[in-house]
Amino acid sequence: MASFQFKILAFLAGLLVLVGEANSAIHRIPIQRSPNFKRSHKNIVAERDFVQQKYSRQYSANRYPTEHLSNFDNFQYYGNISIGTPAQYFLVQFDTGSSNLWVPGSSCNSTACQDHQVFYKNQSSSYVANGTTFSILYGTGSVSGYLSVDSVGFAGLTVQSQTFGEVTTEQGTNFVDAYFDGILGMGFPSLAVDGVTPTFQNMIQQGLVQSPVFSFFLRDNGSVTFYGGELILGGSDSSLYSGYLTYTDVIETAYWKFQTDYIKIGTTFISTFAAAIADTGTSLIIAPLSQYAQISQLFNANSEGVFQCSSTTSYPDLIININGVDFRIPAKYYIIQEGYYCSLAIQSINQDFWIMGDVFLGRFYTEFDVGNQRLGFAPVNSAVSLRQVHLWRLLTLLLACGIWKLRN
Ligand SMILES: *[C@@H]1O[C@H](CO)[C@@H](O)[C@H](O)[C@H]1NC(C)=O
Ligand SMILES: *[C@@H]1O[C@H](CO)[C@@H](O)[C@H](O)[C@H]1NC(C)=O
Ligand SMILES: *[C@@H]1O[C@H](CO)[C@@H](O)[C@H](O)[C@H]1NC(C)=O
Ligand SMILES: *[C@@H]1O[C@H](CO)[C@@H](O)[C@H](O)[C@H]1NC(C)=O
Ligand SMILES: *[C@@H]1O[C@H](CO)[C@@H](O)[C@H](O)[C@H]1NC(C)=O
Repeated sequence: MASFQFKILAFLAGLLVLVGEANSAIHRIPIQRSPNFKRSHKNIVAERDFVQQKYSRQYSANRYPTEHLSNFDNFQYYGNISIGTPAQYFLVQFDTGSSNLWVPGSSCNSTACQDHQVFYKNQSSSYVANGTTFSILYGTGSVSGYLSVDSVGFAGLTVQSQTFGEVTTEQGTNFVDAYFDGILGMGFPSLAVDGVTPTFQNMIQQGLVQSPVFSFFLRDNGSVTFYGGELILGGSDSSLYSGYLTYTDVIETAYWKFQTDYIKIGTTFISTFAAAIADTGTSLIIAPLSQYAQISQLFNANSEGVFQCSSTTSYPDLIININGVDFRIPAKYYIIQEGYYCSLAIQSINQDFWIMGDVFLGRFYTEFDVGNQRLGFAPVNSAVSLRQVHLWRLLTLLLACGIWKLRN
């Protein structure tokens, strides 16, 4: 009898060791959540304008926008990286909707640079000059400077010879009050300004990750303030989602663009076979103009998505069907109630694809599979808070140790 129990314990211990080994192949970086992040009507409209500019610059790089932008600093997520030797630390937004890494340089005297960490190249022994000019338009402003090369570290991994933008002028951008210093783009290489190889592609080439995959566990409106989730490099952590990942191919390797089967609100079809992109740098869901018109009609909302309401409970789920599987977003996540008015966290810009920001990504764990050019989605494991996940990991480890002790 006792030996039978031992066999079971030994089997469990073996299983736990296997789980531990599987997890050692992945690297984690905590994602912080801005303590000031708030979805309100004002912020939603301001962000819509920002997103419009973020996406239009790709198509009309030389046409400066004429409309006045409201100030927008409602960015939700960021994490800590290092550049140089010894390490200089920066908070960056991990943005799957762009492909360059940039941080302010020490010679930048713009207001936005003065508020943030700047890179001192003269204090890094691994710094190498490149000098090619670099510029990205953001709305009515831009960040510009020149390219530099240095080592970049995050999640315990160090990428050698990463080319990045060292910003010398940051004008009229919305980043002045942002909690983060710069942006680390995780889109495909074809989006990269100046043809720079993106950080994750260098990680793959330098053999730093076992598998060419990264994934995001984001806690939109999470119970743990400050702790916004995790960026996982080299694979996925199945304890952070429930069920299995539904995969879909990337249909264009620039943004992380995929095709949805259909998008519905309750029983009303809004679109079929529409393209969508997964953008961790956007907090809203953005629809093409004609689909937005249908949605706003359903809610009797105005052009900014505002309608009268007394509660969000009577509204149906937003349903996004990907590869035959329904991904449901309850109304309380895509409708923001402020008194007797509600605002849709679904907005529109003049693009023919949908943009799935945190309203979507905060509900669904997302795997970005660079190697197979596909995306995988699964509901986040919301039953456990992140602290509980860590506690669970610790407990299983202790259990494994205990069992090992018992056996020997
Ligand atoms: C980034 O990480 C380093 C090393 O762990 C730490 O010293 C630094 O305070 C962190 N920076 C921020 C802003 O969290
Ligand atoms: C590095 O450059 C900054 C200005 O960019 C200067 O203030 C600082 O003194 C320099 N440090 C060293 C060690 O040369
Ligand atoms: C910023 O630096 C430039 C040249 O490096 C200089 O012309 C300008 O006056 C400086 N601005 C401020 C506010 O110090
Ligand atoms: C600077 O970086 C760009 C992009 O990686 C590269 O094409 C170019 O050859 C580099 N120039 C120098 C002088 O190293
Ligand atoms: C989001 O968080 C706020 C503040 O903690 C809370 O009032 C609101 O009910 C939450 N919304 C949802 C959908 O959980």
